Amino acid sequence: MKIDKVIIPVAGWGTRSLPATKNIPKEMLPVYNKPVVQYVVEEAIQSGIRSVVFITNRDKNVIEDHFDYNLQLEATLERNGKNEMLGKVREVAEMAHIISIRQKRALGLGHAVACAKDVCGNDDAFAVMVGDDLMFGMTPGIQQLMDVARSERKPVIGVMEVPQDEVSRYGIISGEETSPGIYKINRLVEKPRIHEAPSRLAIVGRYVLTPDIFDCLEKIQPGHGGEIQLTDGLQVLAEKSGMLAVKIRGTRFDAGNWAEYLTANIYFALQDEELHTDLVQRLKAYLH
Ligand code: G1P
Repeated sequence: MKIDKVIIPVAGWGTRSLPATKNIPKEMLPVYNKPVVQYVVEEAIQSGIRSVVFITNRDKNVIEDHFDYNLQLEATLERNGKNEMLGKVREVAEMAHIISIRQKRALGLGHAVACAKDVCGNDDAFAVMVGDDLMFGMTPGIQQLMDVARSERKPVIGVMEVPQDEVSRYGIISGEETSPGIYKINRLVEKPRIHEAPSRLAIVGRYVLTPDIFDCLEKIQPGHGGEIQLTDGLQVLAEKSGMLAVKIRGTRFDAGNWAEYLTANIYFALQDEELHTDLVQRLKAYLH
């Protein structure tokens, strides 16, 4: 099963992060020294994916620019002998082949994915990664799904267990655990009420899909919030060709949630040896 593209929808408003995101895409907010979206792209690249399809809008050009050369900046860094930084900014420009598609109307995550139909073609599976879900572990999150998709030859989505009072923030699945951490999906519900959730297994913004999802997305009606929901399209696909869920091993940060976003900043900054001691000392002064 060839999987060399990832769709990253980045056309959302980022209302949860206002006013910070009034004029900056939420995907460009920094987590320590890199924008959120760079972590997502790096996870894909580490998993062997080479092409990134951004589903974007008129206010998000800066995301594509981040993954392109900035010749003026590079010339200045070169002139000033800042070779280490020069290497870092070039590396970002060279990390992926970028394809960009405009989502001209904000009609939902399912609609955003459907915008990539022509670019994805009819033959190969592809990944979908939500642009503000950060995931870290020994094996990249999307790689864990790709491994199962390849061995089982089925679409696979990533889930994690969440507390009961958080189920309404996510798509929730129910299924039968066929081997440890792998589920055969029966049902998917987008943002159910707490007492209607079929389980506590939440979809965490990582998917490996086959091109038949596009037909499914064309068939469905607007769902939760009046939007074309990817989760509803996945329900149709699951009934048609079967679908698995994999419990992702690792740590996840939802960059749209302030507490998690700020924790992610500290998590990464603490891994920088040069910063560690100083940062710990300063934080201690505020933690009572
Ligand atoms: C989207 C999906 C939802 C999923 C979530 C993960 O929701 O619709 O099923 O659980 O991403 O982050 P959103 O956060 O865009 O409202």
